[in-house]
Amino acid sequence: MSKQPTPAQRNEPEDAFKEHLIFNLVYCSQISEGVVSSDVDAIIATSQRRNALLGITGVLVFGSGVFFQWIEGPKAEVLGLVKRIETDRRHEMMVTLSTDEEVRERIFPSWDMELVDAEHIQEVLNDALATARDQKSVDALQLMLHKLQEQ
Ligand SMILES: Cc1cc2nc3c(=O)[nH]c(=O)nc-3n(C[C@H](O)[C@H](O)[C@H](O)COP(=O)(O)O)c2cc1C
Repeated sequence: MSKQPTPAQRNEPEDAFKEHLIFNLVYCSQISEGVVSSDVDAIIATSQRRNALLGITGVLVFGSGVFFQWIEGPKAEVLGLVKRIETDRRHEMMVTLSTDEEVRERIFPSWDMELVDAEHIQEVLNDALATARDQKSVDALQLMLHKLQEQ
């Protein structure tokens, strides 16, 4: 049976803003010894190529040796990707911070996987908050901003 293409696969921005059953997972991890910034660039290049095909969007924050990644998309695809990421030797001590599945719009509809430094994540979240149209996304973003301010 042929699978329906996801909004990201069809590259339809308007549809991407519509509410769908979206699974999202947030984790943090620590960069492995000897891994350098060009390795992080390579991770982003792979992510942008593969995530677009899987209908996955999100953001990868990297600063002070710590990764923080928000991944959203169809549940099976997100969990499949997370399994691959878990075995990646370029990072370690991966801890899942939250998982959630809800009917809502994507928080990062046009980002196949963007790299943001820790200093700028607050700006990114505030921008996403300004364009978020449904209450569940607003709540999720406000929670993330609140957690950042606590640190
Ligand atoms: C912190 C971190 C984040 C990653 N994020 C993604 C991602 O969003 N998408 C992706 O395809 N690969 C990501 N990767 C790379 C995957 O672990 C894996 O190397 C890549 O998907 C290629 O998989 P393959 O070697 O099985 O073909 C990430 C790796 C690390 C260390």
